[in-house]
Amino acid sequence: MEIRLNAVGHRYEAVEVLSDITLTIPAHKITCIIGPSGCGKSTLLRFMGGLEKPSSGDVLQLGTAPEGSLNALTYIFQDFALLPWRTVEDNISLVLEDHRLPTEKTKAIIENVLARTKLSDFAKALPKQLSGGMKQRVAIARALAVNPAVLLMDEPLSALDSQTRDLLMEDLVSLWTRTPFTAVYVTHNLQEAVRLGHQIVVLSRRPGQIHQVVTIDTPLDQRIASNPDLQNKHDHLWQLMRDEARAADAELLHA
Ligand SMILES: Nc1ncnc2c1ncn2[C@@H]1O[C@H](COP(=O)(O)OP(=O)(O)O)[C@@H](O)[C@H]1O
Ligand SMILES: [Mg+2]
Repeated sequence: MEIRLNAVGHRYEAVEVLSDITLTIPAHKITCIIGPSGCGKSTLLRFMGGLEKPSSGDVLQLGTAPEGSLNALTYIFQDFALLPWRTVEDNISLVLEDHRLPTEKTKAIIENVLARTKLSDFAKALPKQLSGGMKQRVAIARALAVNPAVLLMDEPLSALDSQTRDLLMEDLVSLWTRTPFTAVYVTHNLQEAVRLGHQIVVLSRRPGQIHQVVTIDTPLDQRIASNPDLQNKHDHLWQLMRDEARAADAELLHA
C-alpha cells in the first residue's frame, strides 16, 4: 500500500502548522520524516493514518492491504502504550481480540511476533519486569501482529538511551530485511533517519514545508558509518537541519 499526500496544509486556529506538503510514501520502503520540534511531524503522521483530517489538501491510501492484514494502518508511539496489568502476550492479544480469530490462529500469530522480536522467553512477563527497550519491542510485536499495510512510528526510540536505540534500530533493520514493510518513521534524530530511511523527508520549521527529500540507496543491512556515501548523505542532511535551526533562532531574535 502507498500513501499519497497532495498539497496538504493545516492550521490549528490562528497557527499555521503545515503548508503545501506533496509527498508519496512508497510501498515496502521506510520513509523518515525529520524536522525541528513543533514543525508538524506528529500532525502529519496523524493525517497519514486517518486519525485527523487536514484543513486543506488530500491524503490518499492507494492499493490494498496485504493478505491477512487485520489493521491497515498501525501506530507505534514513544511511550510504548502497554497495559501494565497485562502480560506481554496479553498485551499483544489485545489487538487481536476484536477480530474473533480461532484460538489456534491467535496463538500462532503471538508466537510468530514474539519470535521475530526475540521475546519468546518473556511471553508471561509483566511490563514492569521489562527494560525500556524490551517494552518497545513488545509494542513492535503488537504492531506486527495485525500485519499492517503501513507502520506509522512517532519517535519510537526517543525515550530510550543511545545503546538501546542502536539495538532496536538493528532489530528494525533485520525485521525489514526479512520482510520489507511500508513504514513512516518520524524522528528528530538524524542518526536514526540515516540508519533506517530509504527516503528522508526534511521538513522546515513551522509551518512545516518540505525542505528537501533525500534518498539513500545503500541497503539497510550495509549501513555502516564508515561508508563514504552514507557519510556524505549524513553531512548534507546535517547542513539542511542546521540551516533550519539557525533560521529559527534568528527569527526568535527578531520576533
Ligand atoms: N490538537 C492541537 N491543537 C492545537 N495545536 C496543536 C495540536 N496539535 C499540535 N498542535 C501544535 O501544532 C504544532 C505542530 O505540532 P506537532 O505536529 O506535534 O509537531 P512535532 O511532532 O513536529 O513536534 C505545534 O505548535 C503544536 O503545539
Ligand atoms: Mg511530535
